[in-house]
Amino acid sequence: MKQIQKTTIILFILFTTGCYYDNEEKLYAEVSTTCDLTNVTFAVTVKPILQASCYSCHSNSNANSSGGGIKLENYADVQTQAKNGKLMGTVKHTSGYQAMPKGGGKLTDCEISQLQKWIDNGTLNN
Ligand code: HEC
Repeated sequence: MKQIQKTTIILFILFTTGCYYDNEEKLYAEVSTTCDLTNVTFAVTVKPILQASCYSCHSNSNANSSGGGIKLENYADVQTQAKNGKLMGTVKHTSGYQAMPKGGGKLTDCEISQLQKWIDNGTLNN
């Protein structure tokens, strides 16, 4: 009887600590892979990225004074820079392109992947 109780307690401890580690691994995995590439749209994904990192120079009103005349506010203008390869070339810091954001930190890997995904999906106005 005592042996059974001991075994039960040991199994209980193994089971619960097992679960604890599982949950922890899952938690870290979720934190490090939180990059939503399934619902990428122009309005909800692409524009906010550009707004946060590029509009200080490339909004319609700032483009001529600070952004070399390149506008990234209206859909059609962003689509032009996406299709000619300059949007990804600049944010990925590909050689042969001006590295963007100019004078600032590179976009995150997730943001770059989301822009790429929008292009791969056909640069839709969605
Ligand atoms: C501090 C101002 C500034 C910021 C912020 C900035 N740019 Fe630029 N960008 C420029 C200027 C100025 C040019 C014109 C080329 C040059 O002088 O480097 C330019 C040019 C470009 C071009 C055209 C490059 C070419 O080879 O013709 C693209 C595309 C571009 N930027 C995209 C972006 C994107 C995307 C962001 C945000 C992730 C961004 N830029 C952020 C200033 C900026």
